Amino acid sequence: DKAGYKHFMLKEVNEQPTVSAYALAHYVDNETGLIRSEAEDVDFAQASRIVLVACGTAHYACHIAKYWFEKLARLPVEIDVASEFRYREPPLSKSDVAVFVSQSGETADTLAALRHAAPQVGHVVSVVNVTTSTIARESETVLPILAGPEIGVASTKAFTSQLVTLATLAILAARQRGRLSPDEERRLVRVLSEAPRHLAEAIAAAPEIEAAAREMAEARDVLYLGRGPFFPLALEGALKLKEISYIHAEGYASGELKHGPIALVDSSVPVVVLAPRDQLFDKTVSNMQEVMARGGRVILFTDSVGAQTASEGAARVVVMPTCDPFIAPIVYAVPAQLLAYYAAAFLGKDVDQPRNLAKSVTVE
Ligand code: M6R
Repeated sequence: DKAGYKHFMLKEVNEQPTVSAYALAHYVDNETGLIRSEAEDVDFAQASRIVLVACGTAHYACHIAKYWFEKLARLPVEIDVASEFRYREPPLSKSDVAVFVSQSGETADTLAALRHAAPQVGHVVSVVNVTTSTIARESETVLPILAGPEIGVASTKAFTSQLVTLATLAILAARQRGRLSPDEERRLVRVLSEAPRHLAEAIAAAPEIEAAAREMAEARDVLYLGRGPFFPLALEGALKLKEISYIHAEGYASGELKHGPIALVDSSVPVVVLAPRDQLFDKTVSNMQEVMARGGRVILFTDSVGAQTASEGAARVVVMPTCDPFIAPIVYAVPAQLLAYYAAAFLGKDVDQPRNLAKSVTVE
């Protein structure tokens, strides 16, 4: 049931404020204002590393979470796509905590990676939407993301709910490693609890995102740029566009532009920049100016302060809600998803069932 929406994908994007709140309700203890989690039995204090393994969109969620685990918990992070991880003989040890992230819990490569790692690591955790899945059954600790059934082949609400869940795990790890006082933890939990409201505000910008997407739909190639956690979000935006609109897209770390991809830029290449006003903003703006100097059409997603300072020369600026940097990558997932959705819908593509793709990839 599409509940009145034209596609499941659009319905699921719009469900994000609601379902992200389910994950928060599960992982936040309202009495104390602290995180409570099935993962409290994981020994992060003694862990030497966290190993995150997944495919596709779930893999990009891991890359965003890496910034949280490093910054908050000072925990070394290793990440790989499941299909590479299992065959490259990674050295693993009992002091590793291995986390497998999968919406379906049935992805063959992720499951095989889990089976490969399980005998070698200290603790196997899964972050899943389907808690009756094989990956969940074979994990010592299961963290549900509680996003509800996701029907569209493009993963949307599972992505933001994976992020919320991984954020709670990073906070828990930080606490166990003596990096967060109860007051600091409460502050982070309060910030995270604002995600549903800000997701709704981002969704309210849908008309402007749709207008940008319609212009983009004519392009042959699109570049997505971001710094810090917005780099993996740029990769996710490019993946979304490729898989449902069939427009070629690439995500890059903004600073890498001049190391190659800028050669692609001309007036026919839209360049999507995901950049809230943070300490890296000025650097991103200078990368944007390099693009504009070569005639590139910049579509900038930023907050109101960013829009005031950096709109000049951009083909389009879409204002996103002002939020704490901790949750900004969750909130900016919305424009990444909706750009792809509206471009694909405008081109008349089969948004919910793109060619050559299956919802759950149960073969290698
Ligand atoms: O069910 P999973 O989360 O394990 O699926 C992983 C990928 O196959 C999946 O995220 C895929 O990349 C999506 N179609 C992206 O929108």
